[in-house]
Amino acid sequence: MRIILLGAPGAGKGTQAHALKEKGYAHLATGDLLRAAIQQQSRLGRQVQEAMAAGQLVSDDLIIALVKEQLQQMGQQPCLLDGFPRTLAQAEALTQAGIVVDWVIHLLVEQEEIIRRLSGRRVHQPSGRVYHLESHPPRIPNRDDVTGEPLTQRDDDREQTIRQRLQVYQAQTAPLIAYYQQQALHSELRYHTLDASQPAEAVRAQIGVLLNDK
Ligand code: AP5
Repeated sequence: MRIILLGAPGAGKGTQAHALKEKGYAHLATGDLLRAAIQQQSRLGRQVQEAMAAGQLVSDDLIIALVKEQLQQMGQQPCLLDGFPRTLAQAEALTQAGIVVDWVIHLLVEQEEIIRRLSGRRVHQPSGRVYHLESHPPRIPNRDDVTGEPLTQRDDDREQTIRQRLQVYQAQTAPLIAYYQQQALHSELRYHTLDASQPAEAVRAQIGVLLNDK
């Protein structure tokens, strides 16, 4: 089973993917892969750092190659795609590679709530665990609940960059909504939009109902 979590920055894709890991889903998050490459100062990391810090997308060719390689390694393990596809070209590349998607779950949240979420987000970079200063604070301020290590704020979680990312989302990613709604009419693909402005547990419960795995 392959599930695309589609939604604007801050819609809660990563939060939901982490919650679903306990159900055996692998989590393929292109943003996390790119941030790890930057951290390692690999050639890929140097190539993408500037685009990410500016809130722009990295090139389709590069990201498509990265995702194909990851999916190949995962084989038939149920998988959540978080942050991919993000353009029509990326969606077409999946189809052309014969990679079947079973579900597209669109997490819908208003812009002002997104800005609140992202400006208050803190992350534990090694594990990808995500917190929020108000709605999901760590037990000890600025420390990861599991390891006690410090939390950080992402470079692209500053208000100006968040607004840039939202513009890029509207221009380049939002067209995927109609694309997949259309595909759902003519194939086995299932598409559903969720009100993701509810608390994370309520969103998780709704996804459970959709996937039949409460
Ligand atoms: P990426 O890392 O994918 O960022 P994004 O899509 O902008 O998504 P986010 O990680 O910001 O948000 P999220 O939806 O996962 O929200 P989260 O669960 O953390 O991409 C970063 C960059 O990499 C891109 O800008 C681009 O440059 C590049 N890139 C990545 N993929 C690419 C691709 N395919 N093609 C080209 N370039 C690519 O939640 C956010 C906050 O809200 C947290 O604090 C959380 O605690 C809180 N929260 C979550 N859910 C709720 C809730 N229900 N109620 C209250 N608070 C909540």
